[in-house]
Amino acid sequence: MALRTIREIGDEVLTKKAKEVAAMTPRTEKLIADMLETMYEAEGVGLAAPQVGILKRIVVIDVGEGPVVLVNPVILSTNGEQTGPEGCLSVPGKQGIVTRPIEVTVRAMDEHMEERTITGTELFARAICHECDHLDGKLYVDLVEGELEDVTNEE
Ligand code: NI
Repeated sequence: MALRTIREIGDEVLTKKAKEVAAMTPRTEKLIADMLETMYEAEGVGLAAPQVGILKRIVVIDVGEGPVVLVNPVILSTNGEQTGPEGCLSVPGKQGIVTRPIEVTVRAMDEHMEERTITGTELFARAICHECDHLDGKLYVDLVEGELEDVTNEE
């Protein structure tokens, strides 16, 4: 595995629509492994392939319950809403208030290209929405209610 460089806001690749993954290849397996390593190193809860400069519809998420890999994710349904702070590894040092569904059901392939349907709530639901937006070239900063704020490091 290897760390990949996280692209930051202003980089054109973050504004582009990613392409579906047709088949799992060694190259794509390596990308997924690298994305997980890069996400953990950066202490993020999610990362989408465009954030490492690859326009493929792949997302990795770990909200503290173990890694989840979503290939070609499609959001099937959403419920309710939650309003709270959100950040992005591509927008370092910032956060903003965003309203998202409180529950999201997504259909995707896993890293073995096996289809499954997952329902996430709270932070997991927020992460699914945020990361799927990346696949369509959208950043959370355009959804922020009020101003983007500087994150105060609590460590
Ligand atoms: Ni992000």
